[in-house]
Amino acid sequence: MKKTVLVSGGAGFIGSHVTVELVEAGYDVVVADNMSNCDMTCFDGVTKIIGRRLPFIRMDFCDMEAVERLFSDYQIDAVIHFAAFKAVGESVAEPILYYRNNLSSFLNVLEAARSHGGCNVLFSSSATVYGEPDETPVTERSPRQPATSPYGNTKQMCEDFLRDAVKAYPEIKGIALRYFNPIGAHPSALIGELPRGVPNNLVPFITQTAIGKRECLNIFGNDYPTPDGTCLRDYIDIVDLAKAHVCAVARMLDGRMKEPYEIFNIGTGRPVSVLELVNAFEKVNGVKVNHRFAPRRAGDVTAIWADPSLANRELGWKAERSVEDTLAAAWAWEKHLAGK
Ligand code: WQD
Repeated sequence: MKKTVLVSGGAGFIGSHVTVELVEAGYDVVVADNMSNCDMTCFDGVTKIIGRRLPFIRMDFCDMEAVERLFSDYQIDAVIHFAAFKAVGESVAEPILYYRNNLSSFLNVLEAARSHGGCNVLFSSSATVYGEPDETPVTERSPRQPATSPYGNTKQMCEDFLRDAVKAYPEIKGIALRYFNPIGAHPSALIGELPRGVPNNLVPFITQTAIGKRECLNIFGNDYPTPDGTCLRDYIDIVDLAKAHVCAVARMLDGRMKEPYEIFNIGTGRPVSVLELVNAFEKVNGVKVNHRFAPRRAGDVTAIWADPSLANRELGWKAERSVEDTLAAAWAWEKHLAGK
């Protein structure tokens, strides 16, 4: 029998790419989203890519009754939880909003999972839990550092919620995927990242500068102790990242987990500097990205990249796309948005 996967926050950037990969792997998918930080662009894009409209429920995961109803209306075998606020700076300014939203929505998912006889729960975590690591690359055993923002703190706390829920309730199994820096877009250019206002993240800022929406990219800091002085990150292609979710869901549903709660780094294992990324974007797409060096951004870590060998071995997953192909897809998406 076909298994059903609920994707909370499924109309967003990562959720929409994961939805496509789940459908292509043969799962039934139910998408739920409160649309607080996106419009229907990506859900409509998913419809075009897969050729049919999936069940879509507009709801807020902070609304326990709505979550209960969802779990009653569908026989859910696994839930992938994306629904959350994700702006680091905003979380510093609005901590209560972030704690209330990100924590209560996940608690509701766990409670519904439990009251409906158990479920496999995949939580979308972040490399932000490692803070400024003492050693790179980081493995899943590298220590978590105290969070530097309420956003980062919610990722750590939700990981702990899942770990403790799994310990207490054997009917719940959990996997946390710690993403490094997801970038790019689907090769169809029908779904991608849709930042509201001025982008915080590097690649949307690059594409918007290249297309003329922004005047100039500020490269935050060129005096870091790295080969070219700019920060190092592990940029992971969004489709590769989405495929990791399919592998993790299959592992849970097939009973292949080695522990009832598992954590995997999802990255390439390859550090890339800000300057290298900008240069690669210009080269592969044949466009200029106006840029200048600016002071360091508060809270940025110097260098972090993944040791993805656990995910490679246990999930049978590996990042495949080159950074050039990923940057070409990001550019195609920006042009699609601009109608070019
Ligand atoms: C990458 C590099 C910047 C913008 C954040 C969150 C993390 C995760 C992903 C989100 C850094 C530099 C950026 C710009 C720049 N979660 N940069 N000019 O900070 O590694 O991770 O996003 O949901 O939790 O912290 O990603 O894309 O913001 O920055 O020079 O205009 O690009 O300094 O070195 P980051 P990013």
